[in-house]
Amino acid sequence: MERTYVMVKPDGVQRGLVGEVIRRIERRGLKIVAMRMNTISTDIAKKHYAEHAQKPFFNSLISFITSGPSVSMVIEGKNAIAVMRAINGATNPVNAATGSIRGDLALDTGRNIVHASDSPESAKHEISIHFKDSEIAGYSRIDETWIYEN
Ligand code: RTP
Ligand code: MG
Repeated sequence: MERTYVMVKPDGVQRGLVGEVIRRIERRGLKIVAMRMNTISTDIAKKHYAEHAQKPFFNSLISFITSGPSVSMVIEGKNAIAVMRAINGATNPVNAATGSIRGDLALDTGRNIVHASDSPESAKHEISIHFKDSEIAGYSRIDETWIYEN
């Protein structure tokens, strides 16, 4: 099983799409093992998006992501990292497949509703930035025997 870090960004919260995002994650069979709403600090935001520090959009990205409450989650399941990236869709919504969150609900790269880690290394790093180990729940969902063959 893999874990990945997922965020409903401030635009998703303001647009009332938290439930819509969670609905898609849960119905796919993925499991929420940690969740919190808060306005993330500039310090955390800079750590989270450190890979983009030299990009021209960095300052606007940091001010946007810290502009209001967002919902942070740790999501667990088989191939959770790749599956969550597909659920979210391409970074620029114009390229995002219909059926994905961005392909169904967004139009602009800078307002693309959701984040998900892009590799096992990023997932580990991002989970550690946003959650303590003690905030992550280990539990079985009662439908797991019907979601997984083994
Ligand atoms: P995210 O990290 O938010 O899940 O998005 P991503 O992996 O699909 O895209 P990434 O390349 O990591 O970019 C992070 C976020 O920065 C904003 N962005 N703006 N103006 C631009 O060219 C541009 N490129 C990226 C987007 O909000 C993107 O989600
Ligand atoms: Mg990214």
